[in-house]
Formats: sequence, C-alpha cells, structure tokens
Amino acid sequence: MTRRDFINATSASYASLLAWGMVQPASASALNLPSNGKGADGKGRKVIILGAGLAGMTTAYELGKLGYDCTVLEARSRSGGRVWTIRGGTKETELNGGTAQTCSFGDGLYFNGGAARIPHHHQLTLQYCRELGVSLEMFNGNNEAAYLYNNRPADATGTDTMANRRVRIKEYHNDMRGYTAELLAKSLDQSALDQQLTKEDIEKLVDFLKNEGDLNTAHLYKGTNRRGYKSKAEPGAGTMPGEVTDPFGLTDLLRSGFMQPVFYNVGDYIYEQQTTLMQPVGGMDAIPKALEKKLTGKIIFNAPVSELRKTENGVRVVYQLAGKPVELTGEFCVCTLPLPMLKNLESDLSGTVKRAADFVPYIKTGKIGLQFKRRFWEEDDWIYGGISRTNMDINQIWYPSFGFQGKKGVLIGYYNFYSRAEAVGSLPVAEREKLALTQGAKIHAQYPAEFENSFSLAWHRIPYTGGGWATYDDSTRKKYYPALLEPDDNIYFAGEHTTYLTAWMAGAFTSAHRTVEAIHARVGEYTKK
Ligand code: PHE
Repeated sequence: MTRRDFINATSASYASLLAWGMVQPASASALNLPSNGKGADGKGRKVIILGAGLAGMTTAYELGKLGYDCTVLEARSRSGGRVWTIRGGTKETELNGGTAQTCSFGDGLYFNGGAARIPHHHQLTLQYCRELGVSLEMFNGNNEAAYLYNNRPADATGTDTMANRRVRIKEYHNDMRGYTAELLAKSLDQSALDQQLTKEDIEKLVDFLKNEGDLNTAHLYKGTNRRGYKSKAEPGAGTMPGEVTDPFGLTDLLRSGFMQPVFYNVGDYIYEQQTTLMQPVGGMDAIPKALEKKLTGKIIFNAPVSELRKTENGVRVVYQLAGKPVELTGEFCVCTLPLPMLKNLESDLSGTVKRAADFVPYIKTGKIGLQFKRRFWEEDDWIYGGISRTNMDINQIWYPSFGFQGKKGVLIGYYNFYSRAEAVGSLPVAEREKLALTQGAKIHAQYPAEFENSFSLAWHRIPYTGGGWATYDDSTRKKYYPALLEPDDNIYFAGEHTTYLTAWMAGAFTSAHRTVEAIHARVGEYTKK
C-alpha cells in the first residue's frame, strides 16, 4: 500500500497522519508556486544569474528543478560570496593596495570569514542544510566564562572603576542581576506596588527576584557561586567546598563602563543570538560547496559582469573572460550582486534601482583569524566557544566552537563594525595583526608567547563585495528598498539586501525563493494567454 493509497483508504486527515508520523511535514523550503496549467513550466527558458553566492546558486538550483536553463556568472574563482571559510592555502588581495595574503593555518584549522552562525529560527537555512546533506554542530555564541574588557587610556577623564582589567561576563551579569533584584525586592517589600498587585502576587514576584538575583533570606544580594569560584578553590573532594568569589560593589559596577553600547550585543537577549545557534561541521563553506555540486556545468567562474542590458524580449549580459568580453542573452536576469557592485556597472537599469545602488549603505566590517600553538583560552581560562567583548578596536574575540581540547587553535582576534572596522581595515595586514595582538594581549596575556600566524579581511575592501551587508534605516527602506522588490523589466533582484533578514544567509535563501516564485508566476501568466 502506498502512502497515498493509505490516505485515500482511511480518509484520515493530513493533520492526524502528521501526528501519527505517517507523513513528513511539508518541507520548509517548499516553494509557494502557482498551480500553472500545462506548458507553464520553465522548460528551456534562459535565465542569467549574476553571482554564485547563496542567493544566486539557490535561485539556479530551484529554477533548475522547474526546468529553466540557468547560467550563473561569478566574478571570483570560488562560489559562496560572503560565505567564505579561511583555511590553509586561502588567498586574497584586498582593493586599494592590499597586500597579497596566503593563509598558513595548520591542518583542520579555519575560521569563517563571513557568515558564521545559524540561529535556530532560520528554518529555511536549516532546511537547505538538511536537503543538501550539510552536517551541523553547535555554535556557542553565549559564554558566561568569556571576558569583558573596558579599555581606558591613562589620560581619560571619568570615573570608570573597572577599566583596564578583564571581568568574566558571569561576574558582571550575576552581580547586576543580584543588585537589581535586591532593589526591586526591597521596593516591593515596602509595598510600593500595592495598588497593582495583590499580596500573593508580590510574594511570588519576590520569590522570582530571590531566584533571579540569588538573594539571601533577607532578600539581600551578598554574592553568588553563579559568578564562579576563586582560582584554585573550585569545589573538590574531601574538605573542599569551594571558595566563592566576592561580588563587585554596585557603585563600582555602575561606574564600570560596561553600560556602553559596545558591550551590549549580548547573546541571551538578542533574538538572532539566542541559543541554539549552529554551524556546519568543517566550515560554513560546506553550504555553498553543496549547492555548487547541484549546479555542475552551470556556473562560469572568473567571469565578472561588465554590462547589463535590456533587450526587446529579455536581457543581454556582457562578462569578461580571460580579459575578453563574452556576450550572453536570456529571457530573464536575476541580479544578486551586492548593491555597491551595481554602481560601476554599465547597465540599462532604471533610475530608481540605480539610486538604490548609490544610496543604500553597506556596513564596514572585518575579522582576523589568529593561529596559536596552544588553546590557552581553553587550557588556562576554561573558555570553550563564545565571545569576549571590549571597547578597543578589536571589539570582539570569538573562540572556536569546534576542535575543543585539540593542540593548536584559531580564534577570531577581532570582529568589528563601522568606524572600528574602518580604522583597522585601512591598515596594512601586518599592522592589523600587530593591533589584534597588542589589544588582545590585554585580555589574554598568553598571546605573544603562543601566536603563530594570521589572516585578516576587511569586507569593504574585498573585491566584488562592497561591504558586509546592506544596512537600512526607516528612511532608506522607504525610499530605495521598494525598487529592488519589483523586476526592472526582465531583471530581478535577489540577495540579503532585498529582505528584512539582511546580514544573514536566511536573507539570501528567502530572497531566492521570492524571486523564483515571481519568475514562475510570470511565466505562468504568459502561457495562459
Ligand atoms: N549575521 C551577522 C553575524 O551574525 C551580523 C549580525 C550581528 C546580525 C548581530 C545581527 C546581529 O555576525
């Protein structure tokens, strides 16, 4: 009996079959396609796709399933775009006089130079990983054992009492939770909220605060083992109950400097960074590599586009191959190039699209991978994955969420944005390395003794990119975004910049779906006529 026969025979509802595990739920990546009549498939219709990043390759993959004849033009020698894993042998030379870098990381060591984490609610991304056979592992973004470091120059004025020392995130968080819970509990004890809450409600709220802040029976915060034990005084065998560390004072905390926004990108609060986060085993480029495999013979590499033209019935694209122009015509074009790349493209694009290309800003952002001969952050500091944060130019240190307890390791020595990324990204690579080591050594004194080699990148200087991702505000969303959502005659736009999931692979995937649906619906209309 086939599944369909079974369903027919029992006339059980889809929902109850689902509940019994008799059918698979509809795939999260199922396209919302119109039920076109006969002859409405894409068979033989030529589509030229600009860019072999996730948006371009997914578009080609899905259109291919519908019979379209897709060609993907990719300027680089690799696929993936901003999904790029740096490992031994990776080469890059940045724009504006960048020096050529060749990565010399050891075997099995890498970092994700672009996309590096997948939130559990990015179901379309996860669905593609499933469909493409990409294995996932946990990405640890939120680590209470990592550090905060408020750097203050000696001549700075102000009252920061916790400057120039490293503080475990767990110490700061638990102390602040403790004191705020204590203050609130006190005010509740004084019946300040009597009018809104009943006596029982208040008792429950105080119970909550007692647990939230780990307050003592008098509802006072006197420290907690949640913030950790003193060095060499962890709980142990026999007569070792453990010696809890002392809390910081509330005034000290308030003056610590940790209320600066730069420390606030905290994993347990932000929707995109809440656990569970995931990453592909072996590097994020497992995703583009798997997509590339589905597109054998359809991607032309080293083929930067130089002209994008409208013709009477479609599009004409000129690209450069080994320095010579090659022309390609098709019925549709799907342009996934980052907007800054459209600025210099000779094209027949409409004025509104050109204005979007001119005025939608892209973020400046950079990373450096540092290889160390010893995983001292694990061995000495007990940090396994997660992120330390500082107001220095390095901004964030990311500890690898894979290869725990191994011999060597690569950590991300900086991940910065906007002016910090601009300042660091404008330095020659040797200077960036020096900066990452000097600033990082304030948090990890082991740096100089253990460092081996580095590879850095500034996304705004990486060829064919133009920046990390599109950064819209209300005004640019209103003024420029709508132009990218409509086809410009036969040219469609896809990529994270055409979504509300900017800066995420999920944006690329979902934009590809949107475009495939739009093209296929249009073709359906043609064939109905
Ligand atoms: N997706 C990017 C990252 O995970 C950029 C980003 C950071 C987006 C933080 C939202 C919040 O680093």
